[in-house]
Amino acid sequence: MKLNRQASALVALVVVASCSSLITQAGRLEADGDEASAGGSVQWQPPSFCRGKDCPEFEVLQTRDDVELRHYKRAHWISTNVSNAKWSEAYDEGYKRLQKYVSGENVNSTKLPQTNPSFTLLYVADPKAHTMQTTYTIEYFVPFELQEKPPQPNSTDLAVTPVDEQEVWVVAFGGFATEEIVIQRGFEFIANLTGDGIDVHTEFIGLALYDQPARLIKRHNELWLWSKTQPSAALRRTRTTAGGGTENDDDVGAVLRFKRMFEAVVKRVMGGRD
Ligand SMILES: *[C@@H]1O[C@H](CO)[C@@H](O)[C@H](O)[C@H]1NC(C)=O
Ligand SMILES: *[C@@H]1O[C@H](CO)[C@@H](O)[C@H](O)[C@H]1NC(C)=O
Ligand SMILES: *[C@@H]1O[C@H](CO)[C@@H](O)[C@H](O)[C@H]1NC(C)=O
Ligand SMILES: *[C@@H]1O[C@H](CO)[C@@H](O)[C@H](O)[C@H]1NC(C)=O
Repeated sequence: MKLNRQASALVALVVVASCSSLITQAGRLEADGDEASAGGSVQWQPPSFCRGKDCPEFEVLQTRDDVELRHYKRAHWISTNVSNAKWSEAYDEGYKRLQKYVSGENVNSTKLPQTNPSFTLLYVADPKAHTMQTTYTIEYFVPFELQEKPPQPNSTDLAVTPVDEQEVWVVAFGGFATEEIVIQRGFEFIANLTGDGIDVHTEFIGLALYDQPARLIKRHNELWLWSKTQPSAALRRTRTTAGGGTENDDDVGAVLRFKRMFEAVVKRVMGGRD
């Protein structure tokens, strides 16, 4: 079974010494300025922590010690909101819903291959008390071959979401990602970046999991924090040139739309508070 059982993860955590495999491999853009292939796309080599599965394409813009600033391309994800006091239970429920979609519960009855990462968006409730909201968004990255036309889910619990290009700060950690570890490291990460004057959204934290529970060593997990800066103008120019000017994304508009989407979620889950 593909279900990431946090309970067994916890047990295993006690047994297996936390193996801190911090970022060692960075995503690599095999960018070749001269080669304007059909559609202007360049061949992307997913990093080894994607474990041979499709995973969203990114470029490393900056590295500070074990932290990377990544630029992700626009891509389709399937998402579902789950309410539960415990992240592990919300995650299992969200994962189950997504697996149904993947195994053919979509209008085309298409079976989709597994992709990476398994993603959760966690919303901060009280930044001082280090508590999280009890609604989580669990997400599945649409495989490359269906990116252009992801099949619509049958269930209204799921939505196909085009996520616009984005800049995120990423720190990787090994071992099993328990709720306790995620929350502790998440707030440390926020404190570290904001403490160094880096402008990030502090209302939500992304958690990207890349490994099945059966893998005991060299597990790869990541925490994501969204940069408040716009995707760099330099990148935009590069891509426009490489694409032969065929794609004329309204990048600033795209980022604003992305932010609005998350702000809407935050507002909703914060509803009732002052
Ligand atoms: C999903 O919807 C499609 C189209 O309405 C239908 O053919 C298919 O049987 C549905 N699948 C499930 C598992 O309900
Ligand atoms: C999926 O089904 C819809 C509605 O029947 C259709 O418009 C669409 O082209 C199909 N997509 C694929 C990838 O077959
Ligand atoms: C953030 O972490 C880096 C090491 O990754 C360290 O050099 C820096 O001092 C930390 N900043 C703060 C504000 O803790
Ligand atoms: C999740 O919640 C947000 C905020 O209310 C909403 O915009 C989004 O459509 C929801 N997603 C699904 C799949 O229901």
